[in-house]
Amino acid sequence: MENPDPTKGARPQSASKRPQAATHRPRNKSLSVASNEELTTLNEELQNRNTELSTLNNDLNNLVNSINVPVVMLSRDLGIRRYTPLAEKVLNLIPTDIGRPITDLKPNIDLPNLESLVAESIETMNLKELEVQDRRGHWYSLRIRPYKTSDNVIDGTVLTLMDIDALKTEVNELHLYAESIVETVRQPLVVLDANLHVITANAFFFEKFHVTPEETKGNFLYALGDGQWNIPALRELLERILPSQTAFEGFEVKHKFPVIGERLMLLNARQIRARGGGAPLILLAIEDITERKKAEEAMRALPRQLVESQEEERRRIARELHDSTGQTMAALALNLSVLDGKASCLDGKGRAALNDSLKLASQVSEELRNISYVLHPPALDEMGLEGALRWYVDSFVKRTGLRVDLVLPSTLPCMPEPARLTAFRLVQEALTNTQRHSGSKTAKVVVSRDDSAISLEVSDEGSGIAPDRALGLGLLGMRERVNQLGGRLDITSDDGGTKVKAVLPISIEKS
Ligand SMILES: Nc1ncnc2c1ncn2[C@@H]1O[C@H](COP(=O)(O)OP(=O)(O)OP(=O)(O)O)[C@@H](O)[C@H]1O
Ligand SMILES: [Mg+2]
Repeated sequence: MENPDPTKGARPQSASKRPQAATHRPRNKSLSVASNEELTTLNEELQNRNTELSTLNNDLNNLVNSINVPVVMLSRDLGIRRYTPLAEKVLNLIPTDIGRPITDLKPNIDLPNLESLVAESIETMNLKELEVQDRRGHWYSLRIRPYKTSDNVIDGTVLTLMDIDALKTEVNELHLYAESIVETVRQPLVVLDANLHVITANAFFFEKFHVTPEETKGNFLYALGDGQWNIPALRELLERILPSQTAFEGFEVKHKFPVIGERLMLLNARQIRARGGGAPLILLAIEDITERKKAEEAMRALPRQLVESQEEERRRIARELHDSTGQTMAALALNLSVLDGKASCLDGKGRAALNDSLKLASQVSEELRNISYVLHPPALDEMGLEGALRWYVDSFVKRTGLRVDLVLPSTLPCMPEPARLTAFRLVQEALTNTQRHSGSKTAKVVVSRDDSAISLEVSDEGSGIAPDRALGLGLLGMRERVNQLGGRLDITSDDGGTKVKAVLPISIEKS
């Protein structure tokens, strides 16, 4: 590189380093000679100092001119001492501003509280930093640093303006982007800082919890809405679990909120951190699952309610058939038998018709009895499960023409009524399904037992349950009944047939 200053690189030694010839001069020399010599030396020394100073000044000027950052040096009383060319442009300074207090000027940039900030920086000997904007809205980071002399004396300040506009715009855009995502999510969301103060929340949050942005933003989460978020389980998550694991999902919290009442909430929280570091934030998503839970519970209760109302309806129809239709049939049969006593008055055709009517009446009575027994099997009480199954299989075979093998153990324990009814209904439904859906000509019912359980197996050799078939009330009801007794139901099915197996725990009634 070209060296504009010939003294550079061969800078003269400082006076202190040169031999101190004058001090060792013999005393017997004349005074004037001595003074002359001393003056010459002093002059030389001054010249050297001047050269040195001018070099330093040149260096400083070159350095200042080549700095591509607006820098202004101020004296203790805020007078402008020196500035870089870019400062001239950015702050709208002119050479005659040198020496004038910066606060007297109208620089392009708003520098609020500059006096007190400078005073603070000098007093604390610390760097002060703040973001400022010029008249066009361009962002700078203003740094105020104490100006120290070589003897460590503070003699003013150095102002530096770093252009942070691009960064600021990017941050703003990211902020807007994040905010628009938060706003789009159709579920209450809150963004918290590490100290659990609300940075932002979306419209769904305000709407759901009946709070306003003004009373929410910037406030401590637990203090919001009369302390409605001061929930022990939530505190545990945010203060203990989250710091160690960065996220939790699907945490259920039941809480009574002052305005909206008791709600079941599903909380998801996640620590979020900007790519370039910075303090972590917490994104808390709140899902109100109160209604969903109720609907799920209602769905779960549905099969039981269906089974119960089906059983109730069967009982009602059975009663109706027995008490009303059955009684009418009995009256009819009685009337016919009265007529039978007078049969001698009838001709051959009339007697045949009467006989036929008597047979039909007893057949209808028998059928009514059977149907009402199937609907509500009193046989279960009278003959126990074993007798009821024999009776049912028998009537099923007669009615359908299917061949059914019934295998029973030598003794069956005496089971409580609900277990007997479940076992009976299971065989009844499985055999009905065989007849209605399987196409099989045979079925097998095997009942076995051990000390703690009774097992029922109904199998056929039919087409099997088509894989895409939804469960109807029959199989759903079976499952529900077995579940209610704490038992297990297995249905296996393929194109070789279907097997329904239930294991019911028994608590044997002591007689
Ligand atoms: N043994 C079987 N063989 C072939 N398919 C069967 C058999 N059992 C059930 N299925 C099939 O499974 C379906 C559901 O049976 P489910 O007993 O639950 O209802 P459903 O018999 O159709 O009606 P519901 O029993 O309520 O009167 C039936 O519609 C049928 O397609
Ligand atoms: Mg069925």
